Amino acid sequence: MRVGVLTGGGDCPGLNAVIRAVVRKGVQEYGHEFVGFRDGWRGPLEGRSIRLDIPAVRGILPRGGTILGSSRTNPLKEEDGIRRIKDTLARQRVGALITIGGEDTLGVAARLSDEYGVPCVGVPKTIDNDLSATDYTFGFDTAVGIATEAIDRLHTTAESHMRVLVVEVMGRHAGWIALHSGLAGGANVILIPEQRFDIEQVCAWVTSRFRASYAPIVVVAEGAMPRDGDAVLKDGSLDSFGHVRLSGVGEWLAKEIERRTGNEARTTVLGHVQRGGTPSAFDRWLATRFGLHAIDAVHEGDFGTMVALRGTDIVRVPIAEATAQLKTVDPELYTEVGVFFG
Ligand code: F6P
Repeated sequence: MRVGVLTGGGDCPGLNAVIRAVVRKGVQEYGHEFVGFRDGWRGPLEGRSIRLDIPAVRGILPRGGTILGSSRTNPLKEEDGIRRIKDTLARQRVGALITIGGEDTLGVAARLSDEYGVPCVGVPKTIDNDLSATDYTFGFDTAVGIATEAIDRLHTTAESHMRVLVVEVMGRHAGWIALHSGLAGGANVILIPEQRFDIEQVCAWVTSRFRASYAPIVVVAEGAMPRDGDAVLKDGSLDSFGHVRLSGVGEWLAKEIERRTGNEARTTVLGHVQRGGTPSAFDRWLATRFGLHAIDAVHEGDFGTMVALRGTDIVRVPIAEATAQLKTVDPELYTEVGVFFG
């Protein structure tokens, strides 16, 4: 069989590890051939593909990004999108499509599979770790490692100047990166999108930290919102899945903290540094296992499913189940880490 592979949405470390595992096992064990579609759903929409064989995937395991390219193209918003995808698959004699993506890319795969008969198998990726039905997505561990290292470094400069340092991390709807890196890095305040924050309370924690003669580190997810306000946006633009561009809450917080407490504050926005570069060992392990199990699902004709991590096992779940609802931080978990605030 000829199998198509695409990577969609925001890139993340580990995408190449999945592609490598799919191709290695698919060719060696099952004798399948592969077509790599370029730039997410844009590839099958426009018929743009590259050769994907064992030589093409040599040496890519530790490489960040994706050799296939990615985009946030939504084929359901394109004129004749479904028909164009089906035509490309037929023309290229592709009998199955492995879609590696987050909630948006996999949401499209679920509909293509369940409603339009396009045989898809999903692989969950996102640094945000906000996909239901899997304990972890790959990319998350790497992002948390990068954010934790940044927080460690910011502690020493914050203390030299006795300043507040606000660290803005990614996380549009879910505060997993903020929570894990904030806990691992010993932050004094962690703010997540799931719980609106009270700026007075944040300032009280900052002040109490200074009273103990230490400089506070405030970790904030880009989607966190003050109790009496809205998310801070970069600009008003929307992507083709209708998402606004975030970032700005870190700057806003630093200004408010300075104004209200009189303490000097600075902001570091980690941004795409969290998504770039080589995957951690855990993400290489997870991405590789996802790839091996995804090609098994294709080989067995188990379409409309997504591979997922449950404990230490890789299982299959309906893609639609994974994309129906985001996995957000449980209020009890957030309360648990609150003992370190202030
Ligand atoms: O979905 C992953 C993510 O990294 C989010 O945390 C972030 O809001 C978004 O992508 C940024 O997307 P872009 O690179 O398109 O600006």
